[in-house]
Amino acid sequence: MSVTAGLKPTPVERLVLFGATGDLARRMLAPSLFGLHTDGLLPAGLRIVATARTGMDSAGYRNVVGEALGQFVDKARLKPAQVRSFLDRLSYVPADASDGAQMAKVAHEIDGGSAGVALFLSMAPSLFGPAIAGLSSCGLATAGTRLALEKPLGYDLQSSRRINDAVATAFPEDRTFRVDHYLGKETVQNLMALRFGNALFEPLWNSQVIEHVQITVAETVGLEERGGYYDGMGALRDMVQNHMLQLVALVAMEPPAHLDPTCVRDEKVKVLRSLRPIDRAGVRTHTVTGQYQASGAAAAGYCEELGRASATETFVAIKAHVDNWRWKNVPFYLRTGKRMASRRSEIIIQFRAVPHSIFTANGAAPQSNKLVIQLQPEENVSLLMMAKQPGLDRDGIHLREVPLQIGIANAFAEVRRRIAYERLLLDLIDGDPTLFVRRDEVEAQWTWIDAIRDGWEANGVTPRAYAAGSWGPSAAIGLPERDGASWHD
Ligand code: BG6
Repeated sequence: MSVTAGLKPTPVERLVLFGATGDLARRMLAPSLFGLHTDGLLPAGLRIVATARTGMDSAGYRNVVGEALGQFVDKARLKPAQVRSFLDRLSYVPADASDGAQMAKVAHEIDGGSAGVALFLSMAPSLFGPAIAGLSSCGLATAGTRLALEKPLGYDLQSSRRINDAVATAFPEDRTFRVDHYLGKETVQNLMALRFGNALFEPLWNSQVIEHVQITVAETVGLEERGGYYDGMGALRDMVQNHMLQLVALVAMEPPAHLDPTCVRDEKVKVLRSLRPIDRAGVRTHTVTGQYQASGAAAAGYCEELGRASATETFVAIKAHVDNWRWKNVPFYLRTGKRMASRRSEIIIQFRAVPHSIFTANGAAPQSNKLVIQLQPEENVSLLMMAKQPGLDRDGIHLREVPLQIGIANAFAEVRRRIAYERLLLDLIDGDPTLFVRRDEVEAQWTWIDAIRDGWEANGVTPRAYAAGSWGPSAAIGLPERDGASWHD
């Protein structure tokens, strides 16, 4: 994606990572920056300044990053000379981001002169406000500075507004880059390529031809020692508010006029604003929540992992609607959960049945076509179609469903699959916000989510039990089945 021709911002020469000793930095940011470095994609003069509260010097931090690379980067790609030259870019300043005096030390280390600066903040929501104040007080919020913000950006509309207001005092929207790592995934960007790079799908992409849409993001992992963050947050706020609603927006949006940050995000926000609110009565019929329970000796339950009782949902299924002309009365069934039967993220476009069937041999109408867009773990697109079963057809023609495969992974087998953050960090350095989330999108997302939470609270909804390693509570199966549909399992 590129910003409008002629307005391309200059790449920055200083990247500052806040929360640089955390899990995200070790697992994702360091390996991503290393990948960009080895491919020669980082500006030659780019210096990476890392900061966190942990006391250590730059040599100590380079050791931390060296170990993280050893753990999270493919051994074949760890060439010692490249590791060394990458670590040479790094320096570390211990600092409390909310303390102006300590931030001055960071500002001194940046010493960017006229070079542009990108700040990447990954911290608890309560620290964003003080950190922005700290950045401003030491002169780090100048016109040459971009700010990237990692989730969680609040836990409801009000708290997200507070954070966004604090950010806006120092950084205008066009220099604010809100991260949703799903947008950095190749497979997610491919949704736009599929829809708008092929003439085939667009004429069919509406309520006349599509019966419903399903989006599943199933994980096999459980709490993963993230209890402090996850408990009280739950699946709705952790996964639906951001990643899943971005997928809904990309599936449902109108074709943007241009592939630029304004046009793409304008179209997405229209979808997000068209989501039909699920009110207090609606939550009973349109949502199902669950929490995983121990399943034999193999997997512990959520509360056992957490070490205390909790009513946080680790699974949610929702029947949503996008109320506009294109999607009138087309259900969007969404579900996501932890400790599910398998790791699978996919989007199913279920087409309507043929209006009249001439094939009656097995007494049933042909199955309706389905477009299966698998995002994870494999990237695959297949169109399930009816084909004639070979034979002499003495009792009439028999049809069978066969997949028309578009093997994205095979077609691009020679290309290294990158971490989502490689794309996002490079876009941040280059100043392209197309794949970052704009404030109006975030607020539309929270508005829809908050209504559901309000409904749960008003109705005293508590999560239903489901066995770890299953597909969620049985009520979730009933959600599409009441409409004569079923999950694609
Ligand atoms: C994160 C959530 O945003 O996304 C995690 O906080 C979740 O709970 C993760 O596990 C899933 O990301 P991915 O890329 O593994 O699908």
